[in-house]
Amino acid sequence: TRTAIFISGRGSNMMALVEAAKAPDFPAEFVLVVSNDPNAAGLAWAAAQGIKTFALDHKPFGKDRESHERQIDAALRAEGVEFICLAGYLRVLTHWLVQQWEGRMINIHPALLPDFKGLHTHERALEAGVLEHGATVHWVSSGVDEGEIIAQARVPVLKDDTAEMLATRVLAEEHRLYAEAVRHVLKS
Ligand code: GRF
Repeated sequence: TRTAIFISGRGSNMMALVEAAKAPDFPAEFVLVVSNDPNAAGLAWAAAQGIKTFALDHKPFGKDRESHERQIDAALRAEGVEFICLAGYLRVLTHWLVQQWEGRMINIHPALLPDFKGLHTHERALEAGVLEHGATVHWVSSGVDEGEIIAQARVPVLKDDTAEMLATRVLAEEHRLYAEAVRHVLKS
């Protein structure tokens, strides 16, 4: 399945997916990495792997988020993309784009949804005093972080954890979970 990955930053989940796709039986072929930030660190890594990249800064579009996404959508179609993995893409998508890709787009979120939707999940989990935290892969629907859950990974919250320590523990699980979820979704 010709698949695109959307990133905004370092792209460690993207890297984990691309590494997983080196297995001969992996059901996704990563053909395009999209970013709203032309300086995203992950873009150079993707290019060095021989993966096409498409970076389009959202800032010049101002409030016209749909025009930005229509150009991204055109790039996806030009590349014959059939499926999208959002991996640290820090923009809320328009209803228009979500509708174009409904049922063919998934996201990874660093919390056990439906808890801690949105940003700063690790800080908020510590503040709430939960004993368990983790990550969720879910279908993308119009509500932010609200689509149907595909898979979750849990980690313990340890005494004296900082948000950074917790983030590192969750991220290691994300890298395993995302590849497993892609396998699950594209094979069933
Ligand atoms: C990850 O924790 C992901 O779950 C969240 O943003 C972070 C992105 O990290 N949406 P990376 O760019 O994949 O390293």
